[in-house]
Amino acid sequence: MDSTICAARDVTSQEWESLRVLYVQAFVAMSASLSACDLALMGNNPQQFWAGVFDRDEPLSKAKNYTLSMSKDSGRIVAYGLYTYVSDEQYLYIHHFVVHPDYQGQGFGKRLMHAIQELYVDTQKIGLLTRTYNVQAQNFYKRLGFSASVDVPSSVCEYYSSDRVYMERDCSCSNQLPSRIGLPAPVSQ
Ligand SMILES: CC(C)(COP(=O)(O)OP(=O)(O)OC[C@H]1O[C@@H](n2cnc3c(N)ncnc32)[C@H](O)[C@@H]1OP(=O)(O)O)[C@@H](O)C(=O)NCCC(=O)NCCS
Repeated sequence: MDSTICAARDVTSQEWESLRVLYVQAFVAMSASLSACDLALMGNNPQQFWAGVFDRDEPLSKAKNYTLSMSKDSGRIVAYGLYTYVSDEQYLYIHHFVVHPDYQGQGFGKRLMHAIQELYVDTQKIGLLTRTYNVQAQNFYKRLGFSASVDVPSSVCEYYSSDRVYMERDCSCSNQLPSRIGLPAPVSQ
């Protein structure tokens, strides 16, 4: 399969639109496995709910200059991660991590996570928040060595709410990754 992973800062409006479509498709697909109670939390309209979340996050990610890594298949974005590297804490926080439903279960998520970590070889910890009901994502992250923690870093508190689980992976013992692979330098916060 012609699949490439690249990182970018200057995301075009066309790419943002592709990310939006991908985000909504992936989370609507995920919502199909949720209970009626969890769906009610979304007003029983996952399409509208997730589109609203993306629309809220997009200006934030532009204003705060999040970094984007994406997997492309024949030029089409099929997976992406939006993240911030806090260099003085050697801490990488993932805001969005999404694989298109047609590409899930084929290693795209794992390869993308590794590619992001390869950009920041000094990373000591990777953290993220996932919705409590998103058990699929929690299982994926556990498979990649993350575990749930109640010890939420202060820099993440602004994104935290009671319907989220904070997950973290200690990378201090697993940094024997290949050297940087010609992608943009880490962002300082
Ligand atoms: C969660 C998500 C990113 C996983 O991506 P993916 O490409 O399907 O995962 P991969 O194929 O790379 O799987 C990597 C490993 O995790 C395991 N895994 C993936 N999903 C899993 C699940 N739901 N339960 C248990 N294990 C899972 C795989 O079996 C694989 O294990 P292996 O290394 O032993 O082969 C993807 O399903 C997705 O985009 N979901 C919707 C959006 C979402 O919830 N994003 C996370 C928001 S916090």
